[in-house]
Amino acid sequence: MISRQEFARRRAHLMQSMGPNSIAIIASSQEQVRSRDVDYLFRQDSDFHYLSGFPEPNAIMALIPGREHGEFVMFCNEKDLEMETWHGRRYGTEGACATFEADDAFPIDDIDDILPGMMEGRDRIFYELGKRPEFDRRVIDWVNKIRTQVKKGAQPPGEFVDLRHALHDMRLFKSSAEVKLMRQVTEIAADAHCHAMKVCEPGMTELDIEAELHHQFARRGARFPAYPSIVASGDNACILHYTENHSKLKNGDLLLIDAGAELHNYASDITRTFPINGKFSRAQKRVYEIVLKAQLAAIEEVKPGNHWMQPHNKAVEVLTVGMVELGLLKGELDKLIEAEAYKRFYMHKTGHWIGLDVHDVGDYQIDGEPRVLEPGMVMTVEPGMYIPADSQGVDKSLLGIGVRIEDDVLVTPDGHEVLSSGVPKSVEEIEQLMSA
Ligand code: GLY
Ligand code: MN
Ligand code: MN
Repeated sequence: MISRQEFARRRAHLMQSMGPNSIAIIASSQEQVRSRDVDYLFRQDSDFHYLSGFPEPNAIMALIPGREHGEFVMFCNEKDLEMETWHGRRYGTEGACATFEADDAFPIDDIDDILPGMMEGRDRIFYELGKRPEFDRRVIDWVNKIRTQVKKGAQPPGEFVDLRHALHDMRLFKSSAEVKLMRQVTEIAADAHCHAMKVCEPGMTELDIEAELHHQFARRGARFPAYPSIVASGDNACILHYTENHSKLKNGDLLLIDAGAELHNYASDITRTFPINGKFSRAQKRVYEIVLKAQLAAIEEVKPGNHWMQPHNKAVEVLTVGMVELGLLKGELDKLIEAEAYKRFYMHKTGHWIGLDVHDVGDYQIDGEPRVLEPGMVMTVEPGMYIPADSQGVDKSLLGIGVRIEDDVLVTPDGHEVLSSGVPKSVEEIEQLMSA
């Protein structure tokens, strides 16, 4: 868990980078309708969570460096017995102060009367410009409200600054408490992948496997998958974000599972590909070994001082060599890479930042150059090769094979730590686990 002190440190750090005479305004997520009177289960906005830990919708926080009556102000739902009887407990303004250490808290319905007064006289407003049009509108309405008072001496803020630059750079570097949580949620997902390998057999459905994974997540306290789980058998594995998960598992096919748990809002993201009947065919093994070699080589590139594209470049090189060996591509290695010929069978990047969001925040480029890796960053390494069943001019034995192998990797001072190392990925280890 993230301590209250750590949330406070994050706010202080952000306010320091904003400088004096500024104000940051951050909104919670809102409830989303799933069908008529039914909402999706609520998930807090990651930025709002990162700065407050406050778990409710319909809330807005303000950070006001140097404000005499307190720098951290929360606007949220008030306690309301009837509403709470229908929709669940609320912290209310008292709880926002007592539990989440807001210096001041007000009912959200009073925000239009109170917040403009707090913005008045501040030079810069930091908020997430353009993230939600209705929120942009509200911020402008608050500023306009101050503008109506200028003849009486009111000073509207003159500068709008995107909060994301400073905030997302903070989120990119994981603290030791965050790393601990990420180890935990990755271990939960890794164990669920092992479980799926053990129970998988021909005749089950992709949905059966999804249910097994989610049951394993839930037993360990992870109620939500971090993203819709991909359980893709046979040719379905060649659809990168396949989520139908309704096919029957066929003897002789591979199964690609891309599934991660979410715990205390932190994500894991793991992919393994294995034979449904527990034994790789010769052709499957050929493709699999190439992807594994690419993945291991890419992981070796994850270290401080390398930039974030080096793992990708390495994976592309190994995969392209493999595609030539398999007869999928013909030509000279350098030319094939330069022409991006590999994209026919490997069309995505080899990784992304991961943290509170599965595709986490943080710039990938600085001044037009790929970002250099530093300790505390966490990224995925996930090369693949996809040969759809209807591919033309491809050896028949390779058709309908899709393989991806994905791990979550922490950059450490002297290299890296593979957080998801608990799931086997060599052919021998997988076959052994599945036959046990
Ligand atoms: N599961 C989404 C991804 O691998 O990026
Ligand atoms: Mn994934
Ligand atoms: Mn991923």
